[in-house]
Amino acid sequence: MSRRRILVTSALPYANGSIHLGHLVEYIQTDIWVRFQRMQGHEIHYVGADDTHGTPVMLRAEGEGVTPEALIERVWHEHKRDFDAFLVGFDHYYTTNSPENRAYCEQIYGALQATGLIARRPVEQFFDPVRELFLPDRYIKGECPKCGAKDQYGDSCETCGATYSPTDLVNPYSTVSGAAPVRRESEHFFFRLSDPRCEAFLRAWTQQQGHLQPEAANKMLEWLGEPGEPKLADWDISRDAPYFGFPIPGTEGAKFFYVWLDAPVGYFASFARHVERRAAEGVSIELDHFLRPGHDTELIHFIGKDILYFHALFWPAMLEHAGYRTPSRVFAHGFLTVNGEKMSKSRGTFITAASYITQGLDPEWLRYYYAAKLNATMEDIDLNLADFCARVNSDLVGKYVNIASRCAGFIVKRFDGRIGTMAHGGAGAAPCPTLLDDMRAAQGSIAALYDAREFGKAMREVMALADRANQYVDHEKPWELARQPDQEARLHEVCSTALNLFRLLTLYLKPVLPRVARDVEAFLSIPPLVWADATSILAPGHVIEPYRHLLQRVDAKQTEALVAANRENLPGSGAAPGAPAAIARTGPDASVATKAVGKATATPATPSAATAPATKSAPAAAPPGQLTIDEFARVDLRIARIASAEQVEGADKLVRITLDLGGETRTVFAGIKSAYAPETLVGRLTVMVANLAPRKMKFGVSEGMILAASGEGPGIFLLSPDDGALPGMKVK
Ligand code: 2FM
Ligand code: ZN
Repeated sequence: MSRRRILVTSALPYANGSIHLGHLVEYIQTDIWVRFQRMQGHEIHYVGADDTHGTPVMLRAEGEGVTPEALIERVWHEHKRDFDAFLVGFDHYYTTNSPENRAYCEQIYGALQATGLIARRPVEQFFDPVRELFLPDRYIKGECPKCGAKDQYGDSCETCGATYSPTDLVNPYSTVSGAAPVRRESEHFFFRLSDPRCEAFLRAWTQQQGHLQPEAANKMLEWLGEPGEPKLADWDISRDAPYFGFPIPGTEGAKFFYVWLDAPVGYFASFARHVERRAAEGVSIELDHFLRPGHDTELIHFIGKDILYFHALFWPAMLEHAGYRTPSRVFAHGFLTVNGEKMSKSRGTFITAASYITQGLDPEWLRYYYAAKLNATMEDIDLNLADFCARVNSDLVGKYVNIASRCAGFIVKRFDGRIGTMAHGGAGAAPCPTLLDDMRAAQGSIAALYDAREFGKAMREVMALADRANQYVDHEKPWELARQPDQEARLHEVCSTALNLFRLLTLYLKPVLPRVARDVEAFLSIPPLVWADATSILAPGHVIEPYRHLLQRVDAKQTEALVAANRENLPGSGAAPGAPAAIARTGPDASVATKAVGKATATPATPSAATAPATKSAPAAAPPGQLTIDEFARVDLRIARIASAEQVEGADKLVRITLDLGGETRTVFAGIKSAYAPETLVGRLTVMVANLAPRKMKFGVSEGMILAASGEGPGIFLLSPDDGALPGMKVK
């Protein structure tokens, strides 16, 4: 087998949101494939980056009162932390806001310009006259032209289901400032996808064997239209200032590259940075062999099916006409559903990666479950939480780990950790006379399944082998042999055989379970397993370490807690309904107090312990005017991100605020209008009381309070956590 040289990417996550279990389908899928190829001995480089540019990042940073650079830096750390936790082993994880990316974008743009593939023409768009900003569609709302429902987005009505374009909205308004948008014209730059050269190239490229999955290639034919009647429109690659991105050369900072132009180029920039870092470590990688045509290397993109258009049309056409190599393969996967439905914040199934880890679930459970569900098509996959528990417990704990846990102890205690001989030809006894041989022989078919991204089939084949290994152990009953002094040799042989079977299963599962595999390698005292090791065995005389537990069972309570944690972090986590909230003060005499500015209960914002109802288990009451620690702990204070903030019509002081608690959202009404223009609040982090009973107010239901400081003088000052705090974190 010749050594493949492969550059692999996963889609770059936006820098304005958290990684969730939907994202992880892709990163885990890619990581498994990369680990497998590396075990085969191929040269493989896996790179990623945060997708940092665009209007949402710019506005969010403004809302938080930080620079976009500071915001993307913080989010980069959050994303990297999540990828590390789920064992997604990027060789380099970068940002699209890098000097390398800027240089590649400018260079590619210059080359496209030189080949006559850049056009300029005026475009009329909605413009926010207050913020002086061209508005992407998602920032425009208005009344549905069909049914008149208020506050509908510019593409479809949530009330009657009608679809339309933003220009059809009645009384449109900018969600950034609330102002009525105006139509304004500006010159835009286009990549001329409709040029016959692009069309001819894409007709050939999209249909060439292997570039796209068959269903994706068919979709492209639809998008390309009939020959002679091409449907491809030119692609608008520019945005007007203000914009967070790279300025287009020659426009004096008035125009920027659209985020979708620089995002895929970010794959190359991340790889270039990786190459540079490896060079500093003395390892040379030929950058141009991976980025320019004519070399025996592969460029493989893993993406979600929703961004096929960008990766199968714009990106290859751009590369081809700018003198770069084109992708060897684009692997598109489907979406994630949870319990058979779209992920939902209100159901608690919009589960963040961070919450999965904080709730103490093992990332390798999810890696295995996804592997068991994944195939090479664009079908959606379902995370059924009951099935997740059943499958992890039955396959990983009940079948796989069980083999080692039943046999390793005898080797260590009875034979000084020394592996013995195996019966000739394999396991050597009914019902699996040739099991070891069969298991070694399976390496070819399992490898083919991994390579083809048929991970579900690979897992089924591995588990079928694990079943047979368990049948062998059940049949031989080492625990009974151990009680018979004359069966010492047989005990040694059976346990040694079982551990050899276990070693092979570990090898086959290693791309999916890298941490378990590492622990097994330590326990078996062997170097890191590679695929070629399938032909060898633990030789007689080899000494192993004592067995240590490898994997816990998952309890359904853990997945329930996970869903609960993502469902708005639990009102009533300990507090009796309607119980008054204890709000921290800086002290009775403090000139600045922290007060709750949302209105959720009729209780004053600064109650004392004396007003809190006693519970049976409560410790001795604190002296008047003080709280016991338990009383204080009843208040569920959480970090929240202000997702949106709007004026409340007819209310002088109130702002309607939607808070994001790391997956779940809450609405609160806060009396802070005198101190904050609502739009300046969007994106910033603050602290909320999350377990106040909801309160119906004139303008809607308030579901908590946010905290702010105020003194004798004018001014209300919202609290902000330090950098690094995340929505949903408990404040204690
Ligand atoms: O859809 C998304 O989440 C984009 N941020 C993916 C970009 S992938 C690549 F083109 F950079
Ligand atoms: Zn409608």
